[in-house]
Amino acid sequence: MGVHIQAQQGELAETVLITGDPLRAQFIAKTFLEEASCYNRIRGALGFTGYYKGIRVSVQGTGMGIPSTAIYLHEMIHEYGVRQVIRLGSCGSFQPDIRLKDLIIVMSASTDSSTSQRIFPGMNYAPSADFSLLEKAVLVARNHSLRFHVGQILSTDLFYHPDPDAWKIWADWGALAVEMETSMIYSLASKSGVRALSLLTVSDRLGDDSYQLSAAERESGLEDMIRTGLELLMD
Ligand code: HPA
Repeated sequence: MGVHIQAQQGELAETVLITGDPLRAQFIAKTFLEEASCYNRIRGALGFTGYYKGIRVSVQGTGMGIPSTAIYLHEMIHEYGVRQVIRLGSCGSFQPDIRLKDLIIVMSASTDSSTSQRIFPGMNYAPSADFSLLEKAVLVARNHSLRFHVGQILSTDLFYHPDPDAWKIWADWGALAVEMETSMIYSLASKSGVRALSLLTVSDRLGDDSYQLSAAERESGLEDMIRTGLELLMD
């Protein structure tokens, strides 16, 4: 049993969809899964296991940011034998051609987080996605005619950076978008031989407050991403 996930052995599926927001995990379980049952409520980090088109899958809320996500990922992998992790999240776009609601399929993730320096002091690690999952996600997105982009992102520790222009160096060096978890997910997954992929819906654009998604637009963008993530379970 984990400290933060208190489930019985075998209650988590080999594949887990992870979301920062535990209520989104609950929404996915209730809307897309059959026979979903809740295995964790500790700290409100809701986790459910059910079936999608007959395939057993779990969906777990992890909270925001690298430290919180790392805790849940560690316990999922080392206490519950999880072998495949798909993050369903949101991100802020860095690039003018990347619009609100577009899907980002994350190939690699840089980070400004000091957690990476705890593991690799004075060095830089380049965490990347599992290629088989990434390739499959591209096929699914293409088949569903989604607007999508594949590339590198930034996983930041600071949602509210005191320097409003700090993001520009990452945009300049080709990062597509920013979120707060993927670099650690890809790192820990690589260390343990676990397959990982992050799918992100663009929810905002850095340096541009002129347009916000309506609730309905946000819902439909999320739904495209959730369905893409679930379709990765199919052979
Ligand atoms: N910054 C960091 N994380 C995010 C953002 C952002 O602008 N949007 C969605 N997740």
